[in-house]
Amino acid sequence: MKNVLILFTLVHSTLSNFTFNDDFPNCTVTSNLIKTAVNISSTYYNRHFTTTVIWKQNSSNCVNGFLMSYPGSVVLSPWATYNDSRVRDINETVGFKQTIYFANDLNEYEIIMKLINEVIRFPIRFILVLENIVTSNQELYDYIEVTSKNDQADLIVVSEMDTGEVKLSTFFPYSEGLCGNYTPVFMKYGQDMFPKKFSNFYQCPIRTALLEYFPYVTVQAEDGRIRSVGGYDGKILMIILTKLNASLEVTSAYNNSIFGTYVNGTATGSIGDLATEKADILIPADILTEKRYTVTLPSHTYHTVDIRWVGRRQREVYDWLKFIVPDQTNFTYLHGLVYISFLISASLVIKCKPHLTRATNRILYQSFIIILGQSVKFVTKSFLLNTLFVLWIWFCFFFRIDYQADLVNALQTPDLEPPFESIEDAVTKVDGYGGVEVVVEYYKDTPLEHNYKVIPMNELRKYIRRIFEGENFLLATDIALVNLLAPYVQILEKRISATGASFYMRPGWPAAKDVDDVIFSLVEAGVIDKILSDGNNHKWILDRTDIHDEMIPIGIAFSKINTLFYGLILMWVVCAIILIIEIKHYEKKMKKAQRE
Ligand SMILES: *[C@@H]1O[C@H](CO)[C@@H](O)[C@H](O)[C@H]1NC(C)=O
Ligand SMILES: *[C@@H]1O[C@H](CO)[C@@H](O)[C@H](O)[C@H]1NC(C)=O
Ligand SMILES: *[C@@H]1O[C@H](CO)[C@@H](O)[C@H](O)[C@H]1NC(C)=O
Ligand SMILES: *[C@@H]1O[C@H](CO)[C@@H](O)[C@H](O)[C@H]1NC(C)=O
Ligand SMILES: *[C@@H]1O[C@H](CO)[C@@H](O)[C@H](O)[C@H]1NC(C)=O
Ligand SMILES: *[C@@H]1O[C@H](CO)[C@@H](O)[C@H](O)[C@H]1NC(C)=O
Ligand SMILES: *[C@@H]1O[C@H](CO)[C@@H](O)[C@H](O)[C@H]1NC(C)=O
Ligand SMILES: *[C@@H]1O[C@H](CO)[C@@H](O)[C@H](O)[C@H]1NC(C)=O
Ligand SMILES: *[C@@H]1O[C@H](CO)[C@@H](O)[C@H](O)[C@H]1NC(C)=O
Repeated sequence: MKNVLILFTLVHSTLSNFTFNDDFPNCTVTSNLIKTAVNISSTYYNRHFTTTVIWKQNSSNCVNGFLMSYPGSVVLSPWATYNDSRVRDINETVGFKQTIYFANDLNEYEIIMKLINEVIRFPIRFILVLENIVTSNQELYDYIEVTSKNDQADLIVVSEMDTGEVKLSTFFPYSEGLCGNYTPVFMKYGQDMFPKKFSNFYQCPIRTALLEYFPYVTVQAEDGRIRSVGGYDGKILMIILTKLNASLEVTSAYNNSIFGTYVNGTATGSIGDLATEKADILIPADILTEKRYTVTLPSHTYHTVDIRWVGRRQREVYDWLKFIVPDQTNFTYLHGLVYISFLISASLVIKCKPHLTRATNRILYQSFIIILGQSVKFVTKSFLLNTLFVLWIWFCFFFRIDYQADLVNALQTPDLEPPFESIEDAVTKVDGYGGVEVVVEYYKDTPLEHNYKVIPMNELRKYIRRIFEGENFLLATDIALVNLLAPYVQILEKRISATGASFYMRPGWPAAKDVDDVIFSLVEAGVIDKILSDGNNHKWILDRTDIHDEMIPIGIAFSKINTLFYGLILMWVVCAIILIIEIKHYEKKMKKAQRE
């Protein structure tokens, strides 16, 4: 029997041109182990995508057999040392989306898993084929433990037991009251081999990095322990925890501002906590940038952050001018046309019928007097001219009412300076500008970058309040924070960006998909919008309940009445000038008369 087997193997190795020593009887194409591995991988892996096959160089016996009957396309990745660049190269090209590994040594397995964990960001589907006969469940347990500690949970172990039976096993990390249960669970054909394992945490913790940032995240500590978080994003986190039946474990709670970075292995802030795997998830959600994308695992877009510039409200101007030009005037060119046509017709009448009109009927003067509402004695013998004047009086009657109404209206409404047209226009009119850190990136290499003041998140509130109170500062901020203050501040039309905000998760976190699914379902159901539109964010900035009171019309202020006195004074000045001119004119006339 043995000779037959060896013969078979010899024939087999000449047929296949692989360089492995293929004298492992249990690892041929016809062996149960390989048949099962091929069956499982071809069932669960998509043949249109490339499957990554990994083994330790020169030490695997089964790869050969597998490759001969696996129907999909593969990329081969034998590895020699931890520093082997081949595995890292695969990450750049094909990735590890569907990976099969042939193991025969636990220590080697530990090394390769560490390496894979280091390079991938998204959880993968992983099939592990144990080449050696497995004699106890403990062996499986050890392999599973290594896999789980390196963040892979979608695992199927294909192993041949000492009974000759080939078994499929996996594990459920949160089960039987344990948060890290590595006991192998055997599977049967027909069962889902890649079931969801993180849809119920059984009260195991999700490690959370908090960045205290009103109104998104507020922290409520009891006896020095944070048991729940509030704020918009905090509420969402609590919903996620409830849905997944998980508990909250806060790994860090910064209250001082910035998200942090992870550059060249140097971690700072909350992002750093994710990149160094101290935490699983970070709240609040924030804008996705390239830097963040490369070191974290962002969730579905959770809501859209509309970032715009916000400045103080428009200031009042030109008060003293109001009496002449009420800004809401209803005067049109038609009014002028009526006046001119009246003048022309009146003059024509006087010219044509001088015997019926007196020389003292000065049309210009008298019609003006009528406009002012003064009484004028105007009766001529010309029926036509009289009628014209009556019509003029009729016109002036409406005109005056119109003007008075406009004037009162103008006195009651403030005249505002023109709004900021663009950020370029605005920066020339303010004392300073700035905003959250992430916005600077949008203004890289523009003149705006230089004086941009980076404001830590926890100081935004202070700045918004100061702008509300009239400080001449321009702030780049999430519009959700100032929406309800819109009547009291200026929000520039043009957006800086409308980017999706995401929750950030630890790269490679196996539960990321389930958390993301919850977030996605919350977005779809509109829960997020509901929470975000909770109309009390102005309370955060101003403790005012009477925010709407200014919509009620207010009386005319005395300072506004002043404008009428300015008008009076101006008229006096005009009169004085006319008087002087008349006196001069008269003197000239007298002199002329004397000379003659
Ligand atoms: C495999 O080896 C056989 C003979 O040993 C040879 O004819 C064949 O071309 C080889 N195939 C490949 C793919 O190298
Ligand atoms: C191959 O399988 C047989 C039983 O089917 C077992 O006795 C033998 O030890 C196995 N050989 C190896 C190298 O695992
Ligand atoms: C795998 O094995 C099962 C049970 O033997 C069989 O029903 C199924 O068709 C096989 N799948 C493939 C892809 O060979
Ligand atoms: C693998 O085996 C080949 C020859 O069979 C040898 O040249 C090579 O150095 C070996 N590689 C390792 C890493 O042992
Ligand atoms: C990888 O290479 C670095 C230096 O390049 C070395 O310090 C380290 O020990 C190597 N690691 C392994 C596992 O060989
Ligand atoms: C692995 O590939 C992914 C996707 O291409 C990439 O985002 C990640 O940065 C790569 N990891 C390393 C360590 O290069
Ligand atoms: C949540 O976890 C607790 C603790 O393990 C468990 O008793 C409870 O049944 C779980 N709830 C659900 C809905 O599964
Ligand atoms: C914020 O952190 C500082 C120290 O970093 C601490 O003194 C202060 O009490 C904290 N504030 C809150 C609200 O936790
Ligand atoms: C990160 O490393 C690269 C290459 O080693 C270097 O060019 C770059 O300046 C470094 N960046 C920082 C922020 O240190």
